[in-house]
Amino acid sequence: MNLDGLNKIARAMVAPGKGILAADESHPTIKKRFDPIGVDNTEQNRRVYREMLFTAPGIEDWIGGVIMFDETLRQHTASGIPFPELLAGRGIVPGIKVDAGAKPLAGFPGETVTEGLDGLRKRLEEYRSLGAGFAKWRAVIAIGDEIPTAFCIEANAHALARYAALCQEADIVPIVEPEVLMDGDHDLARCEAVTDAVLLEVFSALARHRVVLEGIVLKPNMVVAGQDCPQQPTVEEVAEATVRCLRRHVPAAVPGIAFLSGGQSEEEATANLDAMNRRGPHPWELSFSYGRALQASALRAWGGDSARLEAGAQAFAHRARMNHLARSGDYQPALESGAS
Ligand code: 13P
Repeated sequence: MNLDGLNKIARAMVAPGKGILAADESHPTIKKRFDPIGVDNTEQNRRVYREMLFTAPGIEDWIGGVIMFDETLRQHTASGIPFPELLAGRGIVPGIKVDAGAKPLAGFPGETVTEGLDGLRKRLEEYRSLGAGFAKWRAVIAIGDEIPTAFCIEANAHALARYAALCQEADIVPIVEPEVLMDGDHDLARCEAVTDAVLLEVFSALARHRVVLEGIVLKPNMVVAGQDCPQQPTVEEVAEATVRCLRRHVPAAVPGIAFLSGGQSEEEATANLDAMNRRGPHPWELSFSYGRALQASALRAWGGDSARLEAGAQAFAHRARMNHLARSGDYQPALESGAS
């Protein structure tokens, strides 16, 4: 294990002003993104769409890493350049989702545990040879009447830590993603209490599994109210609760925290990140690793039409630049209208 190398990769992924594009949708998930814009979920359409994102103008100034799905890591541009090579050539670290998805946790109705540890050491070796500098594993924690149970949190933290240790052994930076879902009508305080419990368990497991914190990136949810909660907090309330929760649990040795967007709109996710960075300085980089909140308008602008590839790329570049501004607390909603 090369600790300096891991730290260097982690810092490049969340370098000041930069964040991560999560473009690692599995086939069923990308289908959910393509269906509303009437695009068939074919290998060719997935390739064209990802090429549009990865070749967007200017993004190397705002994007430090891209998370890909297995198929994407093996695909090429129309002119034959492998995607990992294209990204690395732009100074963007290529990454790979390695988990096999959240599956029902036997004996615990409504809860899941993420699978994918079997054979992982061998898969990481191959991904490294294909150019991956980092990996991602997503644990999913749902909030409900009697859940999450302590057991579900422990099982997911254990799997995350085993994955992270295997990544570091292979000189791949693990993105450690414990996602507390926004589904439900719970309030902000409940989300904060659950996120507290999850981060406590995750950092305890990482320590016990001898994971080196200087060589990881944490990808948490923001502390928000459930989507169906009638009492929706303000941007300032979300920023305050999220920063408070992270400060309690995330050691300063961690180079960066890159949030998932989890169902927030593009502009909400940017405004929340901006408000948190206005509250800095923080001991870690506070960044983004958005999927939907970086792609929603790009998908709409493109719509599967080859004549609109440039419009789609521009829409993505705009979102990347807005989040770049949020990295230093310099975002303003007024910049959204027409500006690029
Ligand atoms: P969202 O930002 O759409 O939540 O996706 C991020 C991600 O990679 C979830 O694993």
